[in-house]
Amino acid sequence: MTKASDPQAEILRLALHAAPSGIMVVGEGGEIVFANQTLADMFGHRLQELLGQPVEILLPEQHGAAHRRHVESYARHPEPRPMGAGKDFEAISKDGRRFPVEIGLRPAPTNAGRTVVATVIDISQRKAIEERLRKHEEQLEQLVAERTRELRQAQLEKERVLEHLIQAEKMTAIGTLVSGIGHEINNPLYVLSATAEALTEEEDLARCHAYGHEILKQARNIAETVKNLSRYAQPSARYDLQHVDVNASISGAVRLAKRSFRSDGIEIKATASPAPPILAKPEEIQQVVFNIIRNGIQAIGDKGLIEIRTGQEAGWVTVRIRDTGAGIPEEHLKQVFDPFFTTKGPHEGEGLGLYIVRQIVTQYGGMIDAENAVGGGAVFVIRFPLAGQRNAEGRHI
Ligand SMILES: Nc1ncnc2c1ncn2[C@@H]1O[C@H](COP(=O)(O)OP(=O)(O)O)[C@@H](O)[C@H]1O
Ligand SMILES: [Mg+2]
Repeated sequence: MTKASDPQAEILRLALHAAPSGIMVVGEGGEIVFANQTLADMFGHRLQELLGQPVEILLPEQHGAAHRRHVESYARHPEPRPMGAGKDFEAISKDGRRFPVEIGLRPAPTNAGRTVVATVIDISQRKAIEERLRKHEEQLEQLVAERTRELRQAQLEKERVLEHLIQAEKMTAIGTLVSGIGHEINNPLYVLSATAEALTEEEDLARCHAYGHEILKQARNIAETVKNLSRYAQPSARYDLQHVDVNASISGAVRLAKRSFRSDGIEIKATASPAPPILAKPEEIQQVVFNIIRNGIQAIGDKGLIEIRTGQEAGWVTVRIRDTGAGIPEEHLKQVFDPFFTTKGPHEGEGLGLYIVRQIVTQYGGMIDAENAVGGGAVFVIRFPLAGQRNAEGRHI
């Protein structure tokens, strides 16, 4: 078509053959009318071998029919299709090696009929890199998933152990309480037995009635004590929150503490100011105060005072519990509420008492702080939101 002596045409020819992409022109009948050197090299053919051959020579046999349909449909609606717009094809080289190619098409009407210019790029390397990346990504995802699973399991295990220990700590507290509660049951039981005995010998009907009432009253006392104890022991007992009189819970805790610990030299003084009710489980509030009193008694040792004061601060009921023990070293103040933080020996404490206390207080939307009193000793300040100040989620508003 051009003479070798035409310098312009020579440059064009050189440029076409040196182009980094394979280029070919396909005639109306699907035959290759031109191919550049890059394309011939890519497919391992000699240039002359390709000319006049059907395009399907470059495709694996099983793709041939599909390709012919493709060509026909393209001939009906010829439009430019840039690289990357179509799907990738599988091509085959002369020696049967299959490799992925990306093809761009552009219809080019000529005097000799409608031709299509196709650019072909061997994308084996890109595909290999993509595949490697995909595998890496898969491995990474797998690693992340595995690690997440491990972490979740470890977390679950931790929660389970903590739950277990909290329950154990509660049971230890109950053990201490039981001896005190023994007293609380013994007294009414004694009155009850004596009254029943008197009843057996009494002939006066009015007195019999009075004895009967007394027996009933004492039996109810015992029943109430037992009910409180069993509620206290159940970690997951679910029942509605009640309006709790903090002063009553404090009295209960003080009474139990006095009965539970043989500590004649320690005075426990509760000064109750009128306080509006808070929304809580009464035995849990009692446990909060009891745990703090117990720590106070342990901190004091032989002789001293534990003072409990209730009060009110805008929207909060406050409880201050102060002891005359050694106080809490400054560097421990932040840690005393952490689970397992203890300065006591293995059989004196598990380091869970204050952790439980804080769990309970915050669960009811309250706050607790530990500080040292000016004159020495530790002070625990608890703030509970008033019953009327909490929204449906139990948060303080
Ligand atoms: N009233 C207090 N006076 C001094 N130190 C206290 C007092 N209450 C608590 N602590 C410190 O806080 C730690 C944690 O208390 P707690 O959670 O009840 O665990 P435990 O009593 O089992 O050690 C105690 O070991 C102690 O060092
Ligand atoms: Mg304790």
